[in-house]
Amino acid sequence: MDNKEKQSGFGTRAVHAGHHVDPQTGAHAVPIYATSTFGYFNAGRGARLFAGEESGYFYSRVLNPTVRAFEEKLANLEGTEDAIAFASGMGAASAIALTFLKQGDEVAFVGPLYGGTEGLLNEVMTGFGVTIREAHDLHELRNVVSQKTRLVWLETPMNPTLGIIDLKAAAEIAHNAGALCVVDNTFATPYLTRPAEHGVDIIMHSATKYLGGHGDVIAGVVATRADLSEPLRGHGLRHVGAALGPFEAYFLIRGMKTLPLRMDRHCHNAAALAEALKDHPNVKKLYYPGLSDHPGHEVATRQMNGKYGGLVSLDLGSQENAFTFLNALKLFTQAVSLGDVESLSSHPASTTHQLLGEETLTRQGITPGLVRLSVGIEDESDLIADVKRNCSAG
Ligand SMILES: Cc1ncc(COP(=O)(O)O)c(C=O)c1O
Repeated sequence: MDNKEKQSGFGTRAVHAGHHVDPQTGAHAVPIYATSTFGYFNAGRGARLFAGEESGYFYSRVLNPTVRAFEEKLANLEGTEDAIAFASGMGAASAIALTFLKQGDEVAFVGPLYGGTEGLLNEVMTGFGVTIREAHDLHELRNVVSQKTRLVWLETPMNPTLGIIDLKAAAEIAHNAGALCVVDNTFATPYLTRPAEHGVDIIMHSATKYLGGHGDVIAGVVATRADLSEPLRGHGLRHVGAALGPFEAYFLIRGMKTLPLRMDRHCHNAAALAEALKDHPNVKKLYYPGLSDHPGHEVATRQMNGKYGGLVSLDLGSQENAFTFLNALKLFTQAVSLGDVESLSSHPASTTHQLLGEETLTRQGITPGLVRLSVGIEDESDLIADVKRNCSAG
């Protein structure tokens, strides 16, 4: 895209950013560059590529043209200077941790985070002498940051309780402590929230979810400023090595072209489902930031482009009720993950968040009766009928 096209609307950029008709062949879709290595053509050029004196492709662990097209599309949509793709969301998270943390540093996070991210911080990074401090809201976050805090790690909406964090306020807390602010933007996607506009330094995604959108790829990506992407590519990608393959990048490029269309439908269906369940006698608690009594509703309204995402969580009172409900649903596949065009359902306490242990689960409000629904793009009336019928049965 040229500079003029950078001013285009989100939908136009979702389609066009990051690629153009191939000047050599005229190929309209981004070609899949299935190559591990690239010829230098002469030894001097090879030396310059390795010394970073000349930019270009030399090895697909570090840079590949198909992967680069995906990175450029995502950076454009997030409004950041650069983006770096990884083999999974956890590959992206671990690259951030291993690039920016060293022994003696502290990480402050607002929990719950995705279970794998908490595992990375609490079980892996602590082994390298990093101290992890947990908060549950911005007030607590202010009390747990210190001069040793290097990263403040957040997710909004939060997984699976769909809490909302005011990103501008959180970034300010991080910056006042001299820390970098990291946000996992998987649930919102850049269509709903662009954390860089709120002062966030590092934005990560499990691209497995809404970015890919079709449940056929595992991928991660980090969007950030040039001064941070340089060490991230150098250490987090080149030395740690969780590189994305070109086939996956191709699927992601294709999926992201319809991101706004899919997100509009996900958000519409989730809002309709939440409305239908609002006063249901078997639903003990409903978590959806679009509800006016949700504690994060006001922040979500201004931070999420007037939409509230495609996830709805509900507490059915007990694990038994939750399991009965999940087993009876017809249109929701019981599976982890989210953001696919197909609706998915999960029981976080016994699956994605199980490793956190009972005490943490209770502290973070991930109760035995909690069910998370990733609302797909099927017909609204079919989804509502499926959920309502089985909620009553539960
Ligand atoms: C919010 C969030 N972040 C990160 C991850 C990890 O991503 P991946 O499964 O692509 O490694 C997930 C996976 O479910 C997630 O939901």
